[in-house]
Amino acid sequence: VTLHELQLLRPALSTHLVPSGEAAKAPAVVERLWSELEIGRDGWIVGFGGGSTTDVAGFVAATHLRGVRWVAVPTTLVGMVDAAIGGKTGINTAEGKNLVGAFHFPQQVFVDPSFLATLPDEERQAGMAEVVKTGLLAGSELWELPEVEMIRACAAFKASVVLADPYEREGRRTILNLGHTFAHALEAGSGYELRHGDAVALGLLAALRLSGRSTDVVEELLAPEPVRADRDRAWQALLRDKKGELNLVLLGDEGGYLSPVPEADVRRALDELIAD
Ligand SMILES: NC(=O)c1ccc[n+]([C@@H]2O[C@H](COP(=O)([O-])OP(=O)(O)OC[C@H]3O[C@@H](n4cnc5c(N)ncnc54)[C@H](O)[C@@H]3O)[C@@H](O)[C@H]2O)c1
Ligand SMILES: [Zn+2]
Repeated sequence: VTLHELQLLRPALSTHLVPSGEAAKAPAVVERLWSELEIGRDGWIVGFGGGSTTDVAGFVAATHLRGVRWVAVPTTLVGMVDAAIGGKTGINTAEGKNLVGAFHFPQQVFVDPSFLATLPDEERQAGMAEVVKTGLLAGSELWELPEVEMIRACAAFKASVVLADPYEREGRRTILNLGHTFAHALEAGSGYELRHGDAVALGLLAALRLSGRSTDVVEELLAPEPVRADRDRAWQALLRDKKGELNLVLLGDEGGYLSPVPEADVRRALDELIAD
């Protein structure tokens, strides 16, 4: 069913475009959507696009009229294996990524891998970073599976972790942030020029190094290269991301776990990801 056909069926359906990429996750976009939407409390929002789109659509759904129902239809690999799953919605502010948001679970997530047919290779590669993250946490080489099974396995793993700690209150959900403290710091340090998945690939490298584990899988599958970023800005962003305590998700034989790491080691690991 095309959007046009849907519109014929349901004249009440309206479509609202958001900018492509990270630019969608901006307060101004949210404000525009709040004013454009003409739905009541019984209305629904469908977030159709990559993780940037579903993050902002979900946040608008969480806040419009104090919350309306929504459905996520991810169209990127990042979205299918990660961003559209788990109820975290949010936007960026001048201070950093995902600093404003809400837990607001979609009623449903429709994952149709055929949308990936048009996805550029570099976006697919970015998605593989989240797949590798998931496989490392699950203790299973999920990246070896055929695409459809790989997506299903990653989505199922994330859903199982989320369901055990939906609002990240008990810390169990935190393991999904493997590599992400560094990734968010690099994204901020690059002025958000860096793709999230590419930042995650580098973040995994740092997390595995600090865990004393092999980085072979990350290097073979993702081949991350140090990036240009402002070291101090990245470091400040990392401290803000941690909100004070330098507890990082590390990888052990039993999967991910939260552990305090000395500040100097964290700083050194971050610096190794940045090109001179
Ligand atoms: N909420 C969460 O739990 C969670 C988890 C992981 C990531 N995220 C967020 O997701 C965002 C990254 O998502 P992303 O990697 O999907 O990037 P994205 O949404 O920015 O999309 C990347 C690019 O792909 C294009 N695109 C989307 N679908 C396409 C398709 N089928 N064919 C061709 N092009 C297509 C988009 O227009 C965009 O230019 C980040 O902001 C990250 O913070 C959120
Ligand atoms: Zn991620």
